[in-house]
Amino acid sequence: MDVRHFVSIEDVTPEWFMDLHSVCRDMIQYPERYVDACRGQVMASLFFEPSTRTNFSFQTAMMRLGGSVFGFSDPSGTAVAKGESLADTIRMVSAYADAVVMRSPLEGAAAAGALYSEVPLINAGDGGHMHPTQTLTDLTTICEKRGKVGDITVGLCGDLKNGRTVHSLALALARFPNVQFKFIAPREMAMPGYVLETLRERGQRYIEVTNLESSIPQLDVLYMTRIQKERFTDPLEYERNKGLYILTRRKLDRAKENLLIMHPLPRVDEISRDVDGDPRAVYFDQARYGMFIRMALLYRLIRTPRQAASAVYDLTPRVCGNDRCITKTEEYLPNLTKGRNGETVCTYCDKVIPTG
Ligand code: NCD
Repeated sequence: MDVRHFVSIEDVTPEWFMDLHSVCRDMIQYPERYVDACRGQVMASLFFEPSTRTNFSFQTAMMRLGGSVFGFSDPSGTAVAKGESLADTIRMVSAYADAVVMRSPLEGAAAAGALYSEVPLINAGDGGHMHPTQTLTDLTTICEKRGKVGDITVGLCGDLKNGRTVHSLALALARFPNVQFKFIAPREMAMPGYVLETLRERGQRYIEVTNLESSIPQLDVLYMTRIQKERFTDPLEYERNKGLYILTRRKLDRAKENLLIMHPLPRVDEISRDVDGDPRAVYFDQARYGMFIRMALLYRLIRTPRQAASAVYDLTPRVCGNDRCITKTEEYLPNLTKGRNGETVCTYCDKVIPTG
């Protein structure tokens, strides 16, 4: 895989992950060995969208490696508010930093930013598209708790349409041996076409269901997600779907004894607090593993030699039809497309480009 930037979960192979996980294991066991591992290195943390865990876990990861951090969690105090383009912001920040961590509400923003970065750029979530470092966190949790990632039945439940964590997780898990999927969501919030198409292309089987309770007994991992209120354009659609799935202790009566109950957090009401004391609830451990696997990722990427940023700007009309794609606001981005199942898709946001 291209280890220069960490933008898409599609770059992660099981071998690459297992190798990263072994560094992470060492960091968990012997943290003192790494206290100076990134001494003198600087990480930029650019959060164009709110975050608690991802932002803090990246910052503490860098601090635990002996490095330092600068950045923002609200772009209103920066030149972005004056209308600076993403390309210029990234070119400039990457001149100051040794790694850039970036979150944006726009799909494909990290792939766009990486074009203009001299140093490794890490996707900390791009709109409703992907969240690849959350997936590293999730794979680490499964590996730490079960000893391996494969041979499991996984239920992903909640807002599968807008939840970026489940898109990345499904695509990554599909590369591991013998993983069965149950996608538990109402039709309105079903897994997007591009994820399902990619799974089918790889011969991965999955089933889509709407009932949580009847699905639980077969699961080894239950991954709950919140309804992504901020991504709904129609408030009525949100009202219709909120509170639809609530995991309670009683619903776990027929669950396996070694089930892992996971959640990327923040939780709203989809896991009731009476589940927190259940030994199968691992979501707070999951958040802690997130810091260690991000330490391993920074440690690995920060050694990449600096490379000149691209100066490619393209002023021909944008081809992507997705209103949430980064190409809609950063109009100079090169038109980049790729093929999937005989269709042309946008390289930034993965959505199919309508023909004609
Ligand atoms: C997730 C995210 O930002 O997508 N949170 C996180 O990074 N742990 C999940 C969410 O916001 O629901």
